[in-house]
Amino acid sequence: MSDPSARQAQLRARVIELALAQDPYGHIFAGKDFRRDYVAARTVAWSMLFKDMRDTTSRVLEIGSKEGRSAVFWLEFFAGAHLTCVDLFREDDAERFDRNLSAYGTRLRKIVGTSIRALGILREENAVFDFIYVDGSHRRDDVMVDCSAPGACCAMAA
Ligand SMILES: C[S@@+](CC[C@H](N)C(=O)[O-])C[C@H]1O[C@@H](n2cnc3c(N)ncnc32)[C@H](O)[C@@H]1O
Repeated sequence: MSDPSARQAQLRARVIELALAQDPYGHIFAGKDFRRDYVAARTVAWSMLFKDMRDTTSRVLEIGSKEGRSAVFWLEFFAGAHLTCVDLFREDDAERFDRNLSAYGTRLRKIVGTSIRALGILREENAVFDFIYVDGSHRRDDVMVDCSAPGACCAMAA
């Protein structure tokens, strides 16, 4: 194969295939409706990196939730936590997100709109988070704003 981008796409698909086959968290996504997977290749690393925060994390903020796959992971991993999800929820992401997260009820808050608007709302509320996952806009300036969210630990999607 001579096209480097095709080779890269093939390798990426293979990494996801291997990660899915060995994902200890695979079962938490069963029966849910996702089109994209930005999570499978990361659950093992996340579970090792954030293991020591698992029992003490009670307030989680996620910027960029899309259909809710990473949101499901955080709610399962931080089993005692409340999660605030921020996203533009474009097209049918909102319906999929609502369906995929319906089991979590009062543990979840959804803020629809840009992260800069959501962060304004959260600041007015004096909200502070134990853990923040930044996976919204990947433009440099937006990421810098998102990483200014009030919290103790901020993880970014690569
Ligand atoms: C990579 S996807 C998130 C995937 C999700 N974390 C997961 O793993 O399932 C990025 C999301 O960020 C949202 N987004 C992009 N720019 C945004 C902004 N300025 N404010 C809020 N959300 C934004 C998009 O609508 C999209 O759903």
